[in-house]
This record gives sequence, structure tokens and C-alpha cells, in this order.
Amino acid sequence: MSDLSGKAAIVTGAANGIGAAVAALLAERGARVCGVDLDDVGGVDLSVRADVSSSAACGGAVAPALSSFGGLDILVCCAGIQRYGSVVDTPEETWDEVIGVNLTGMFLMAKHAMPALEASGAGAVVNVASVQAFAAQRGVAAYAASKGGVVALTRAMAIDHAPAVRANCICPGSVDTPMLRGAARLFGGDDPDGTVRAWGAMHPMGRVSTPREVAEAAVFLASPAASFVTGAALLVDGGLISQIGGT
Ligand code: NAI
Repeated sequence: MSDLSGKAAIVTGAANGIGAAVAALLAERGARVCGVDLDDVGGVDLSVRADVSSSAACGGAVAPALSSFGGLDILVCCAGIQRYGSVVDTPEETWDEVIGVNLTGMFLMAKHAMPALEASGAGAVVNVASVQAFAAQRGVAAYAASKGGVVALTRAMAIDHAPAVRANCICPGSVDTPMLRGAARLFGGDDPDGTVRAWGAMHPMGRVSTPREVAEAAVFLASPAASFVTGAALLVDGGLISQIGGT
């Protein structure tokens, strides 16, 4: 377990789900944390409301973190949205929205934060992608494309910014967050809990992940314990895409 005392971190999507768990765990390990989200973020040293799909907003989120903390060591990008549809039934505006938040948002946060991460000399970027970067469900064309883009973008950043900055991503399976619960309400009719249990049963581990389990992997990649890990896409999927067929 790495001590992150003295480290300064920005976490996007920190108001809910995986981002909130990452922010809490970084703080537990001693880091100072700036939470960035459309909503206010609780339990952090600094909360900034920003839409990560806007360059001006990303710049406006990084600047107060740098002035409060005097530098930046860790950027964890969790902000993301899920929308549904094949290429035929995904409106072009929805495509732009999903790519804008899930992929361009990670590009823009890195663009604004990278000079400070490089100045730290041991910077770390962790982006949250998804198993859907590697194996798609039906009807998630824009989302799957955005997550594949996150894996490729993260790899490119790892090459461009080594050795001063490491860049890795996490590829979760199903995680019990407001996003997953929203999907369960959409597809699970009057039994969203049963739907989440059924999705859990599709994972060899027999259940969905907790946000904390994903945060543990993200914080490992952000920490000095992962000092020789860069360009990785770490599955945190309970074995979901290791299996052939449904069970
Ligand atoms: P969530 O919906 O529970 O939380 C996402 C947070 O991001 C929210 O607080 C929301 O306000 C914020 N956000 C959304 N759009 C934003 C924007 N434009 N600017 C700033 N903040 C914004 O989602 P969850 O489940 O915690 O997902 C976090 C990340 O993990 C996402 O990138 C998601 O795609 C990914 N993921 C989630 C999985 C799951 O099963 N929950 C599985 C695999 C990946």
C-alpha cells in the first residue's frame, strides 16, 4: 500500500461512482485531491465544477488545483457517460456527446495537466476505459468507440511523456455505480436489483465490482508502487472477457 502523502491529484467524475471512490482512496493514502465534476464533489480538498468536454472548463479546473497545491502529480480521469444505439440509431449529436465527454474529455484534461505532471518528474495519468474497448455488447457503438480510443490515447501518452509521466488505463467490467444502476433501470424493468445480479453472474467472479475495487487498481497505477508500469490497459473485470461464451 503506497503512501501518497505530499502528492497532489485531480480526479474527474469525482462526484459519483468510480471517481468518488478514487478520490476517497487517494485522500486516505494521504494525497491532496481536487475533484472535478458537473456536480459538487464532497470529501475533497478542492471541488471544481467543470464539463470535461470543454477545453476552457478543463483549463479552468487544472488552474485552481495548481495554485492550491503548488503542483500536480496524479490525474485520474473517470468522467464518462453511457448512451445506447448502433451506428444507424445513434444520432450524430449523441455520437459527438459521447466522444466529447469520454474521449475528448480525457485528451483535454491531459493537455492542460501535462506540463505540471511533467514538472513533477514522477507524474501519473490513469484513465478509466472499459472492457468495451475490447469486446462490445450490442447497441453501444459510440461508447465502445470512445473506450477503444481511450486505450489508444493512453498508450500514445505513455510513449510521448515517458519517463517523466506514466500513463495507464483501467478497463472495468460491470461496477455498481449510479451509471450501472441507471442501465439496470432502463433494461431491468421492475427488477433492477435482479438485473444487476444477473449481470454479476456473467462475470466469472459471480458478481459485479464495487467502486472501491476499481479504485484500488487505479490508485495502484497512480502510485510509486507502479513505477515501471506505463502504457498498460489493466482489466478489472472479474474475468468477464477472459471467457468464451456466456458461462
Ligand atoms: P457515474 O455515472 O456513476 O459517475 C460519473 C461521474 O462523471 C458523475 O459524477 C458525472 O456527473 C460525471 N460526469 C459526467 N459527464 C461529465 C462531464 N461532461 N464533465 C465532468 N463530469 C462529468 O459513472 P461510473 O460508473 O462511476 O463511471 C466512471 C467511469 O467508468 C466512466 O468513464 C465509465 O464509462 C467507466 N466505466 C463504468 C463501468 C460501470 O459498470 N459502472 C464499467 C466500465 C467503465
